[in-house]
Amino acid sequence: MHIKPFRIEQYFGKYEFSAKYLLSSSDAESRTIQELLELELSSQEKFLQHWCGYTESPGAPALREVISGIYQGIKAKDVLVVAAAEEAIFVLYHALVSPGDHVIVETPCYESALEVARSTGAQVSEWRRCYENGWAHDLAALEKLLQPNTKIIYINTPHNPTGLLMPAGTFQQVMKLAASRGIIVFCDEVYRELEHDPASRLPAACEIYERAVSLGSMSKTYGLPGLRLGWLVCKDAEILERCLEFRYYTTICNSAPSEFLTALALRHREVLIRRNREIVLRNMVLLEAFLRQRSNLFEWVKPNASTIGFMHYKPGRDVLSFCEDAVKNAGVLLLPGSVYDQPRHIRFGYGRKNMPEALAQFGAYLDAHS
Ligand SMILES: Cc1ncc(COP(=O)(O)O)c(C=O)c1O
Repeated sequence: MHIKPFRIEQYFGKYEFSAKYLLSSSDAESRTIQELLELELSSQEKFLQHWCGYTESPGAPALREVISGIYQGIKAKDVLVVAAAEEAIFVLYHALVSPGDHVIVETPCYESALEVARSTGAQVSEWRRCYENGWAHDLAALEKLLQPNTKIIYINTPHNPTGLLMPAGTFQQVMKLAASRGIIVFCDEVYRELEHDPASRLPAACEIYERAVSLGSMSKTYGLPGLRLGWLVCKDAEILERCLEFRYYTTICNSAPSEFLTALALRHREVLIRRNREIVLRNMVLLEAFLRQRSNLFEWVKPNASTIGFMHYKPGRDVLSFCEDAVKNAGVLLLPGSVYDQPRHIRFGYGRKNMPEALAQFGAYLDAHS
């Protein structure tokens, strides 16, 4: 298997744990284990008594039940719990795709969605979106990409890196197009439930199309990436079964303490979502003010979901050297769009409590270098 270096994770790996001000993180504010245990009476004792043997490979039954409750019309048997979204992406592509197949991936995207697909030996086409037309989805272009051997269409809503929801009509059209040819839709929904206006939430793909697989994670909306827990949800038992067969070769089963804490957190997910949405909305106001003051440098299509947004950097300067200078000289970590093959953009993150401090620091850096 050949796979390209994961540039997004490489960049974070270099700076995330040494930079003082994180201004590009995609995970919402986290919590301690103690704070999680405080969500439920007597859970501390239960956690300490929790058995640390192997767990059931599809996920603990009680956990699959709680996860199924996030969705309409989904049962516990439709859920496969894995070690976060990253394992899900690896497992799904390698379980379902081989050389001779064709995969379509919405881009720009979280890099593994594209590179893991390529690593299977399948032919991969990009369904490209661009800033110049407001990151619009070109359905005619998608239709043109379809081939008789197209096996999977990967989409991502809310979207990394733009923080935009796919318009509801477009979402329905993608499902319709896929359904008319029996193509699997792999829908990355790791930022779902963090729509800035909850009324704009889309249905989960798995709710509306039998051969759609929804991808969920504890990492983003719920702010618990350290649990390394995620899931695939699909009503088509054969699709899920093939993923399970493959995951016997990756992690076999999940971490028992993580399953306990995830089930606990999800039983109270409204508490987690409410706090994180409050942080996001407060930070968005600050970012809007920042943009008004710095309109000579930045502009964006305002995100309507998630913790991230993709700013167009107006000066023609290379964003990689700009971001590296900001982290080295001001301790402010931004993510250069070059890691998404978007060298005129910078990813901002606004899901953390201390974002105002990071933004102020970045502002001071810009003033000093103007
Ligand atoms: C769209 C998208 N999918 C998947 C992942 C992987 O998340 P996890 O931490 O659950 O592996 C990320 C992380 O940034 C992401 O943004």
